[in-house]
Amino acid sequence: MSNFNQLSLKLELNEILGDRKLENRPKIVAGNWKMHANLKDSQALIEDVGRFAKADANCKVIIIPPFTHIFPLSLIVEKNHYPLVMGAQNMYYEDKGAYTGEISPLMLVDLDIKYVLIGHSERRQLFNESNQIVNRKLQKALSHNLTPILCVGESLDEREAGLTDQVVKRQIVASLSTIDRESLANKFIVAYEPVWAIGTGQVCQANEANRVINLIRFTLSQHFKTKDNDTLFGDSIPILYGGSVKGSNAKELAVQPDIDGALVGGSSLIAPDFCEIIKAFS
Ligand code: 13P
Repeated sequence: MSNFNQLSLKLELNEILGDRKLENRPKIVAGNWKMHANLKDSQALIEDVGRFAKADANCKVIIIPPFTHIFPLSLIVEKNHYPLVMGAQNMYYEDKGAYTGEISPLMLVDLDIKYVLIGHSERRQLFNESNQIVNRKLQKALSHNLTPILCVGESLDEREAGLTDQVVKRQIVASLSTIDRESLANKFIVAYEPVWAIGTGQVCQANEANRVINLIRFTLSQHFKTKDNDTLFGDSIPILYGGSVKGSNAKELAVQPDIDGALVGGSSLIAPDFCEIIKAFS
């Protein structure tokens, strides 16, 4: 090998290893309570999860309750020094105005909330949230320094038609169309949630979930590529899997190299099950 080739190989390796070191992605388990749990039950639940997390969690635990529970629950978290952070299930893409029933990102910031789900499939399907709306919400959340958890995933029909990769890529690219790479640095999470696996008990095979998440990394890297050999941006983004995650299947998901955590629905309402999932990712 000529000196010139050796030098360029070394530079290339340095570059790759340099980025890989930065890669060190956090493990994250998030519980999306959806529209469940009254205040009394939710207080008991957060106490159970908080105590467990204080003793045993070695990953970030995000609790995403209904809006009305956020404030009272955050007081419990604060008082007991539980290592839990609160998130919101949704927000509007305007700061204020005559938008009856909507929640402003500034209201989340007021409560010191750092995380917000954007584009959950239930919002997309039941409330007609398009990729354009998702894009506006993402932009607004980032502008207020909130960390959006962007949810993507294909329906059963799309999977059966062999369209999974295409759908997921389109959701990623369209949602991020007006957003630059710098504004995402250290404040962007993606959750891959195949719609057919949500609330059905039918978890996506761990290696298939890993494959799609790897594709999401590749798509992010391609989308934000700034120079020819700069293809590692996607490796820096935490990406979670969601859809029928339980204590009993969390370990096999947790050992996959591209799965950085779980976005949990039903099982996040059952303290022992949710704690088992936290343990798997700790
Ligand atoms: P389940 O865990 O109940 O399938 O829900 C997943 C989900 O939608 C989390 O956002």
